[in-house]
Amino acid sequence: MVAFTALTASLLLSTLVSAQSDDTALQIEAIKAHFSNAGLVPDLLESFEPQGTLTLNFDGVGDITPGQALSADQVAPVPTLTISTSNSSATSGAFTVAMVDADIVGSDESSVTRHWLVNGDTIDGSSVSNSSATPITDYAGPGPAEGSGAHRYVVLVYAQPESFSPPSELSQSGAAVEKYDFKNYVSSSGLGPLLAANYFTVEAGTSTVTVSETSAVESSTLSASATGSDTASGSGSATDSAADAAATNENGAASMTGSGVVSVVMAGFVALAVL
Ligand SMILES: *[C@@H]1O[C@H](CO)[C@@H](O)[C@H](O)[C@H]1NC(C)=O
Ligand SMILES: *[C@@H]1O[C@H](CO)[C@@H](O)[C@H](O)[C@H]1NC(C)=O
Repeated sequence: MVAFTALTASLLLSTLVSAQSDDTALQIEAIKAHFSNAGLVPDLLESFEPQGTLTLNFDGVGDITPGQALSADQVAPVPTLTISTSNSSATSGAFTVAMVDADIVGSDESSVTRHWLVNGDTIDGSSVSNSSATPITDYAGPGPAEGSGAHRYVVLVYAQPESFSPPSELSQSGAAVEKYDFKNYVSSSGLGPLLAANYFTVEAGTSTVTVSETSAVESSTLSASATGSDTASGSGSATDSAADAAATNENGAASMTGSGVVSVVMAGFVALAVL
């Protein structure tokens, strides 16, 4: 019942967000709720206080929603990135774009897979431009292992200050797709602040057709149901959801806790209060 309520709140929130697409502050609150609920804070980011929102557009798919479940084919092309912010000074200068798989199977928690890393991007109007950029790791579309659950692919746009100093192995083109300690890379190279971020999920070995157009809450619920729970019926209790989330986490899928559910409900009401 709690899960169902969270789902309803999330759907309501999504509806409100699309109805108020000019309300950047509301959209920022929404993406923050998605990142918390999906466990990306604190798994990947210690905290998440973006200045704006990031829209990812894939050829043949269009603009994605946060946490949307997509197939590897759908996310094979390089996405185009658009920033929305009401802080005009946050879009001047150079930016680093990174995409990581936050769910490598069997790795230590500090490692993620680098799927994309570009330095020297600029923001032209609202579009992220690579016309004077240095690609470090060319975009490599996701290809998660069969049966390893839903992987969270996170795209992040960091301000790249003049003092930015990347490690030598990540300072020129041709760096392979491989594991790295992303948190350490960001802090030791001096990147930041984080302008905006978004994420989607890809799962191999399970049809993604029925879970398209989802939010973080929906995809987590559906991942849990894929492990054999009864939450798909809408009758799962909070306890069931927590147990299912634990089982799901063992498979490397998006984490989902009882408190996460509650926080999304709260975020929904906070957003309503903002209106
Ligand atoms: C706007 O962005 C700049 C650069 O990131 C930041 O220093 C400043 O604090 C931001 N302003 C507000 C009101 O958040
Ligand atoms: C710039 O982005 C396009 C796709 O949007 C890509 O095909 C091209 O390789 C990129 N160039 C650089 C230098 O990263």
